[in-house]
Amino acid sequence: MFKNIKLSQIFSLSERAVVHSGDCLELLKIIPDGAMQLIVTSPPYNLGKEYERKLKLEEYLEQQKTVISECVRTLSERGSICWQVGNHVDNGAIIPLDSVLYPIFKDSGLKMRNRIIWHFEHGLHCSRRFSGRYETIIWFTKSDDYVFNLDPVRVPQKYPGKKYFKGPKAGQYSSNPLGKNPGDLWVIPNVKNNHVEKTLHPCQFPVELVERLVLSMSNEDDWVLDPFLGVGSTIVAALRHNRRGVGAEVMPQYVKIAAERIKSTVAGNLKTRPMHKPVYDPKEAGNRLTIAPWTVQSTSQQTSLLDEALS
Ligand SMILES: C[S@@+](CC[C@H](N)C(=O)[O-])C[C@H]1O[C@@H](n2cnc3c(N)ncnc32)[C@H](O)[C@@H]1O
Repeated sequence: MFKNIKLSQIFSLSERAVVHSGDCLELLKIIPDGAMQLIVTSPPYNLGKEYERKLKLEEYLEQQKTVISECVRTLSERGSICWQVGNHVDNGAIIPLDSVLYPIFKDSGLKMRNRIIWHFEHGLHCSRRFSGRYETIIWFTKSDDYVFNLDPVRVPQKYPGKKYFKGPKAGQYSSNPLGKNPGDLWVIPNVKNNHVEKTLHPCQFPVELVERLVLSMSNEDDWVLDPFLGVGSTIVAALRHNRRGVGAEVMPQYVKIAAERIKSTVAGNLKTRPMHKPVYDPKEAGNRLTIAPWTVQSTSQQTSLLDEALS
């Protein structure tokens, strides 16, 4: 599937994988109108991280607006934009970025289809508010006739053996054999130090999160764009599923890692956390600390009573 895929630095519709080393607006201006099927990104949150300069919120939103409007121009009529964001923090006060970015998308004529909550377990421990353990993905489409493939992203039901108990279908299985709709709350581990995908980038998103978007919102050979590419997670997810991937990144050290990860993907040896792998289950892992000591005591008491009764 991956054979003969070369990584290019200059965008052209005949390529399959493109990383532009530089500002996303330089890349966007050479992408033709309507050429992108899916745009997935996690932009800077204006927190003053090593790859951004902290701006006044209004200035930040103006910058985002310029990029979003170029993204809308390059988006196909049946295409989707997914903007993955958390909070901007100003003097201890949080500003949920999805709420301040929403009007920009709405005013560009896009329609919101979901506000997906991405829940994860790890992050900073706050002392003056509850620790943040989710971010959001706001999903917009250009038209009402958009690509949405549910079957490739279905997840197992909790009770797949459930049957109709009355009516004309009584006795038949009630659930879809392909699984259920994953819903709009996604529990996917974030990329921290012990995550198999961790690089030196402080905020990369997990490939499995992008894979779900790629599979459901694009078809094979379609273009998937990430204007704030980081270490290339979006292109990795796109190539994995036979799509074309393109992105821009300003920091040379991330461009280098993105290129390495894309090459490993093509070679078939990039390690990622598989889609559908359940989050750590301590009981399944045999962790004995999951057994409450008081239940053990009562069990052994019961066992000895049983022993007595039998002897
Ligand atoms: C939140 S990170 C994205 C990480 C990415 N999702 C990943 O998995 O690696 C945002 C990235 O945007 C890059 N960036 C910031 N401004 C940019 C611009 N104007 N054009 C292109 N990239 C930019 C930053 O260097 C940073 O790596």
